[in-house]
Amino acid sequence: MPNPSTDTDTDAENDYAGYRQVVADSFQQWYGAGRDSWTGAPTNDRVTDFILASAPPAPPTGRLRVLDIGCGRGIQSTELAAGLDAEVTGLDLLDVWDAPAPSRGSARFRQSDFLGYTGDSLDLLVDNGCLHHQRREDFPGWVAHGRELLRPGGTWVVSFFLSPVGEVELKPLADGRLNWWLTEESVLDLFTGSGFRCVGRSLIDRGFRYENHDLKYLALCFTKE
Ligand SMILES: C[S@@+](CC[C@H](N)C(=O)[O-])C[C@H]1O[C@@H](n2cnc3c(N)ncnc32)[C@H](O)[C@@H]1O
Repeated sequence: MPNPSTDTDTDAENDYAGYRQVVADSFQQWYGAGRDSWTGAPTNDRVTDFILASAPPAPPTGRLRVLDIGCGRGIQSTELAAGLDAEVTGLDLLDVWDAPAPSRGSARFRQSDFLGYTGDSLDLLVDNGCLHHQRREDFPGWVAHGRELLRPGGTWVVSFFLSPVGEVELKPLADGRLNWWLTEESVLDLFTGSGFRCVGRSLIDRGFRYENHDLKYLALCFTKE
């Protein structure tokens, strides 16, 4: 006899696992074909500068502990390790990291889905271009999971596709990967509704025109209350 509540849970897990595979396959194609134009892009330098300026001070007991969610090739992870003399973990669905070791601090890499990641309490979470590829129904759980990983007073910097039309819009790729154009308000609501306070922002011009719009990233910095 079917159990409706268990079946629904299982369906949701299968959906989640199915979409993870779509994302992994999609990015694997892009990295494999050298189409990861975001890696090392000047816009990423702007995000790095914003993160360096927003990071909390190192704890008296040691180095800052940082998690770089969706780190890709790991260039930004190693730059943050060096810039902050921090212990950085770069996390990605794919093991495509190939950045040279940092000149200061440390960087290690883990292959995992962010929602499956557990570890020591963190001072700084970085999400540069990962949230906007998730399913919208997973956004609240994404932020709640990060909140659990962060220490009280910890910092989360998130950078995302800023919607040029003033509304949240979905721009899916043909392979099923989701690209969300998000509004500042929607991301503020998401984080403040989960007990974060916004303490900084940086608007980053991509120098890229698409469908008659000038596309930009918006990076926001939040503190866990
Ligand atoms: C647009 S790339 C950005 C990479 C890197 N942050 C950078 O700026 O160079 C997004 C990355 O997020 C990873 N990703 C997507 N969903 C993820 C998830 N649920 N958990 C871990 N990584 C994920 C992808 O594999 C991809 O490498």
